[in-house]
Amino acid sequence: MSAKAQTTNAPLIEVALPASDDFTHWRDIARLLVQSGVEPECVLWNEPGGDAGLFANTSQLPDPAPGAPPPRANRKFMQMAQNAILHSDPSRFALLYRLLWRQQSNLQVLDDHADADVRLLEQFDRTVRRDKHKMRAFLRFRAVEDKDTGGEHFVAWFEPDHHIVRANASFFIRRFANMRWSILTPQLSLHWDGTVLREGPAAQREDAPSGDPTEDLWRSYYAAIFNPARLKVGAMLKEMPKRYWKNMPEAELIPELIAGAQHRETQMVLEGEDLRDPAPLTLKETHRAVIECRRCAICELNTNAVIGEGPEDAPLMIVGEQPGDQEDRTGRPFVGPAGQLLDQHLTQAGIERRAAYVTSAVKHFKYVQRGKRRLHQTPHAKEIDMCRWWLEAERSIVKPKLVLALGASAARSLLGKTVSIASARGRPQTLEDGSELWITAHPSYLLRLGDDARAHQAHLFARDLTAVQQRLEELT
Ligand code: URA
Repeated sequence: MSAKAQTTNAPLIEVALPASDDFTHWRDIARLLVQSGVEPECVLWNEPGGDAGLFANTSQLPDPAPGAPPPRANRKFMQMAQNAILHSDPSRFALLYRLLWRQQSNLQVLDDHADADVRLLEQFDRTVRRDKHKMRAFLRFRAVEDKDTGGEHFVAWFEPDHHIVRANASFFIRRFANMRWSILTPQLSLHWDGTVLREGPAAQREDAPSGDPTEDLWRSYYAAIFNPARLKVGAMLKEMPKRYWKNMPEAELIPELIAGAQHRETQMVLEGEDLRDPAPLTLKETHRAVIECRRCAICELNTNAVIGEGPEDAPLMIVGEQPGDQEDRTGRPFVGPAGQLLDQHLTQAGIERRAAYVTSAVKHFKYVQRGKRRLHQTPHAKEIDMCRWWLEAERSIVKPKLVLALGASAARSLLGKTVSIASARGRPQTLEDGSELWITAHPSYLLRLGDDARAHQAHLFARDLTAVQQRLEELT
């Protein structure tokens, strides 16, 4: 109900919000108003740039009724409200206040999915989450020379539908922590120098560069990975609406690729060509592309892409499961507890880690948050299979003679099927590129065992690594 339709005789309270996306400010005032018994029809919420314009002012706020209990709010409501407040509909503040007010007499109000207010909240929440996702997926940085340092500065233009820019800042800081970047939008601009995030004023499209040399690279990469057999134009347009295309270098290719898809698919079947084979990129290019990867839900967890490290022509490739907490923080594989145990065993077996290429089957850390801790979650087979693309890209560049799979996830990624470690360990298999695959346990499996079982497994692990070392000597 809008303030104009006010039905009580109580005075109208005007609230001028300092920003369109400031949930905390809205929440603090909303709590106070509930405690003061101010009914939803008696509040007029104004945001910057709204109808009240420059004249928006906050009325004298009433004091809370003596002894009024703190307002109650359902946890789900608080989560959804933090998204819904970013919606561009000016009625969102009133909707949220109405729902907060109603929870004081019915905390389960959100369970009634037929309720008009609840449906609107759900719609706002969904729309904003989608808009956040679009910004993460379709924003494209373009490299320009930094005027002060002469180094690279990455600049992107993005036009969000809702007030999501600040809310997405931490995602971009984490994902591009070591880059100097600016994101320009019609609402505000964000500038990250590798240490500090600054905010600047709204920008215009012309303020952002329109192309850079790396885009040719990205375009050829995109053309190489475009799989005509998977083309679904409707789904593609839904996921990636045309209006985002103008800021995406690869989008120039889309009409041509769609037009040629049917033909390429037929050719592929006739010639038995497998377009899933990764294009031969460098490791650096692969890393950049992994950063952009959105093939599965793990990529949405705001973590760093951790690809392998080691010589580009290493004869040995060691493949683990996925980065853990410390790998995610440092951007390097096997640096946490499992990595330390692996290092010890490699040294004992006479394998020089520095001479090996060390990587993982899955390139992002999959976890669940428990308080302050991020707990490892084993990736599903489907996620391993999605990420297999990147491991194949690494293998096609490094071309190791011997691949050592640590654990079941790595083995699945390399073989395309699930195998038992107990039956697969200790004997080599030949992969389709002629390299030899050896399978053993993952060091974190050893870390989870009790002392006796660990001693036994450590012995088997050491034996497997020694066999790998001997075979490596024969092969090199
Ligand atoms: N476990 C892995 O499989 N990979 C890492 O990088 C770290 C732990």
